[in-house]
Amino acid sequence: MKILGSYPKTRLRRLRKSKWLRELVSETSISSNDLIMPIFVREGKNKIDSIKSMPGVKRYSVDKLPKILKEVKKNKIPMIALFPYISNKKKNILGTEALNPNNLICESLRFIKKKFPGIGIMCDVALDPYTSHGHDGIIINRKIDNDKTIEILVKQALLQARMGCDVIAPSDMMDGRIGVIRKALDKNNFQDVSILSYAVKFASSFYGPFRDAVGSKSKLKKDKATYQMDYKNTSESFREVGLDIKEGADMIMVKPGLIYLDIISKIKNSFKIPIIAYQVSGEYSLIKNAIEKKILTEESIIESLISFKRAGACAIVTYFAIDIAKKIKQ
Ligand code: PBG
Repeated sequence: MKILGSYPKTRLRRLRKSKWLRELVSETSISSNDLIMPIFVREGKNKIDSIKSMPGVKRYSVDKLPKILKEVKKNKIPMIALFPYISNKKKNILGTEALNPNNLICESLRFIKKKFPGIGIMCDVALDPYTSHGHDGIIINRKIDNDKTIEILVKQALLQARMGCDVIAPSDMMDGRIGVIRKALDKNNFQDVSILSYAVKFASSFYGPFRDAVGSKSKLKKDKATYQMDYKNTSESFREVGLDIKEGADMIMVKPGLIYLDIISKIKNSFKIPIIAYQVSGEYSLIKNAIEKKILTEESIIESLISFKRAGACAIVTYFAIDIAKKIKQ
């Protein structure tokens, strides 16, 4: 690219001299339309509890969901992402609770669709909140079995669609699941239910606090490196995205977020499909702790979210969604 102009005729500071002028020429912006709020649901009645490793984030029993959903609605956040925290006694090696039509996610879907019909809902398709070993798939001969896992994931996706889920979000990283899920959704008259594929999901240590939140951390023995991506790779993410688009994904997730902006940007330049970034639990807790200790200010959150937009993401899943939507509105 040619640099046009030269000093002193050209002075780049000229366009930075006042706030209105800076805003006039700004290239990126963020609004509440770009935010997706993750919500953890727990068992019981009249219960809200805190998550130690995620300061400020809570788990809600279904009857208490209106407390947070009112904020979502008031602040015009278009979609939430639901995650369940179930008791140990409901977890087993096959994660069968995932297919219970009265499990926490199904109950939440019915409740929210009735009380807050205007809020979009996305649900994870993966078994980790339900398995006694904390893995996203089932184990056969000491391996996470791809094809047998898909058989369960398809049923989980169909169940969520039947309960009113708008966006099915497979986060399990099994090969081929997008195609199988799309086919099953179409066959069952769910042509309008979209699929947001966690196509590019790296095996990351930044998921630690989330695993606390869904209660899978202490259960997990080995890491997830045989199914989640190696963070040393870039080209592999193109193969993942390409395959998932071919299989019928409507949107693509890149996860984690902040330390993978290069990947977002490269995918954006190569594929014309909406990209969603996930500012994951570890990123959240790092920033949140630094703000609480007054090492950073709240402005750092906006700066981090803008970086996703600048890289090419159209929306961001972030535990800061409500706080930031409020701040933007002011
Ligand atoms: C599990 C899942 C994870 C996250 C979303 N879905 C964790 C994992 O893969 O171990 C992470 C979200 C976060 O860290 O905020 N399928």
